[in-house]
Amino acid sequence: MPEQAHEITLVVNGTVRRAEVPGRRLLSDCLRHDLGLTGTHVGCEHGVCGCCTVLLDGEPVRSCLTFAVTVDGREITTVEGLADGDRMSPVQRAFAECHGLQCGFCTPGFLCTVTALLRENPAPTEEEVLEGVSGNLCRCTGYQNILKAVHRAAEIMAEES
Ligand code: FES
Ligand code: FES
Repeated sequence: MPEQAHEITLVVNGTVRRAEVPGRRLLSDCLRHDLGLTGTHVGCEHGVCGCCTVLLDGEPVRSCLTFAVTVDGREITTVEGLADGDRMSPVQRAFAECHGLQCGFCTPGFLCTVTALLRENPAPTEEEVLEGVSGNLCRCTGYQNILKAVHRAAEIMAEES
C-alpha cells in the first residue's frame, strides 16, 4: 500500500511553501527534492556531520534527523535565505574573506550554525567558537580558516551594528 501523503506548509526563507510528503520524508529531502533548495547539503544522513544544518525558528537543527511533517507551520532558514537580497550576510562575507572553505560541501551547514551562534553570542571567545562549531565536520579539514572566519564575522557584525 502506498504511504499516505501529508500536506505541509512551511515558511522557507520568508516564503510560504507547500509540499505533499510521506510521513517519513526527511526535512533535508523535502528542502532539496520537493522545494528545489539544494543549498542544504547531505553528508552522513546520521546526524553526525552537520552539513544538513538549517535554522528552525532561528535554532540550528540537523535536517537529516527531522521529519518534514513534524515542522509543519514552522519557519525554516536555509543557506539560500542568509543573504539580504544580493548582499551576502556578514557570516558569508567573512567566510569568503578568510577563505573559510575549500570544496564548500560543509559550508552551508557551517554558515547556518555560525549565524545562529553569533546571534546568540555576538562576541564569542576562542573556546566558545570551538564549542559552537564542534558539531560541524569539514572533510577538507579547513578548520583554521573557518575559525578565523567566525571571529571576522563577529567583527563585521559589530562594525555594522
Ligand atoms: S547529513 Fe545531517 S548530520 Fe550529516
Ligand atoms: S570545505 Fe570541503 S568539506 Fe568543508
